[in-house]
Amino acid sequence: MKSLVTGAAGFIGSHLTEALLAAGHEVVGLDDLSTGRAANLAEVAGHPSFRLVEGSILDRRLVSELAQGADRVFHLAAAVGSFVIRDRTLAALRTNIHGTENVVEAACQAGARLLLASTSEIYGKNDKAGLREDDDRVAGSPLRSRWSYAEAKAIDESLVDAYVREKGLRAVIARFFNTVGPRQTGRYGMVIPRFVRQALAGEPLTVFGTGEQVRCFCHVADVIPAVVALIDCEPAAGQAVNLGSSEQVSICELAHRVIALTGSDSGIKRQTYLAALGPGYEDMMRRVPDCSLAAGLVGFAATRSLDDILRSVIGEQAALQGAACAL
Ligand SMILES: NC(=O)c1ccc[n+]([C@@H]2O[C@H](COP(=O)([O-])OP(=O)(O)OC[C@H]3O[C@@H](n4cnc5c(N)ncnc54)[C@H](O)[C@@H]3O)[C@@H](O)[C@H]2O)c1
Repeated sequence: MKSLVTGAAGFIGSHLTEALLAAGHEVVGLDDLSTGRAANLAEVAGHPSFRLVEGSILDRRLVSELAQGADRVFHLAAAVGSFVIRDRTLAALRTNIHGTENVVEAACQAGARLLLASTSEIYGKNDKAGLREDDDRVAGSPLRSRWSYAEAKAIDESLVDAYVREKGLRAVIARFFNTVGPRQTGRYGMVIPRFVRQALAGEPLTVFGTGEQVRCFCHVADVIPAVVALIDCEPAAGQAVNLGSSEQVSICELAHRVIALTGSDSGIKRQTYLAALGPGYEDMMRRVPDCSLAAGLVGFAATRSLDDILRSVIGEQAALQGAACAL
């Protein structure tokens, strides 16, 4: 079985690539290494069934060439992270809309099955506890760049839906809710690796806004088997499927837990959204998924607790810092 994984050098993409190779797939990864790193693929570098191509999903010819002969296309490449969206809004829109269009068209031309990585951001400001796939989006203004990522991903979903209905593409949409774990970087705004880095460095943990925002964090190791299963799951075809945990935590409580688990003497510092993310930033106060659809389709379950997740990220970052100190 041949798979094309876009965004293979990214956080989720690298874990997916490893899982596919372990299952005996042949994998071609496509990544422009903008937020991803070749080092994420160190464990599979040199694997006889793996090849990483450095290039962009905006390169239509390259995408089409790589999709030819693939049975499956996992489309994870995207401009991701609140700092990336804030600082390079136009480039992010182009990647997330035109790049995705190239991938969807190429998968369709190749007759491959497609999985599109989408996001809980789709639900916008809808803060219902237990968001279901058919719940309404509560959209912020498209003129606030903060929402442009959700806008682009929503267009991606509509594009996939149209290809499914009009062109017979076999595709499924996975909506990730705060997927976390080793290899995720805090450099582009992701909260857990950022807090862990700050705690290990003895710096104050910076909480944006009130800290009362509630999120559910799901370990990447729980998400990957569902991603692999969903692409082949016939009843899932044409659907969007939530993947996430239902263990709720406020960002303030998260900061306290990171401090406790690292044994750090760091304090907590609040920063306004204006100072952290620039003018016009809005947040959603609660984002909690209902994953009963994924549970029914592919037996998805978020088995790892938040403390399990934090221990795995702390273990990874402490080892990296130890290695850096030893140099
Ligand atoms: N991690 C999460 O919590 C989360 C939540 C919702 C959705 N997602 C989605 O999951 C996917 C993977 O996200 P991630 O968390 O692993 O982030 P990531 O930044 O680690 O992965 C994205 C990858 O795409 C690559 N990329 C960016 N632009 C590209 C381009 N033009 N051409 C080729 N490659 C390009 C990056 O270099 C990176 O390796 C994304 O589509 C993202 O929108 C992630």
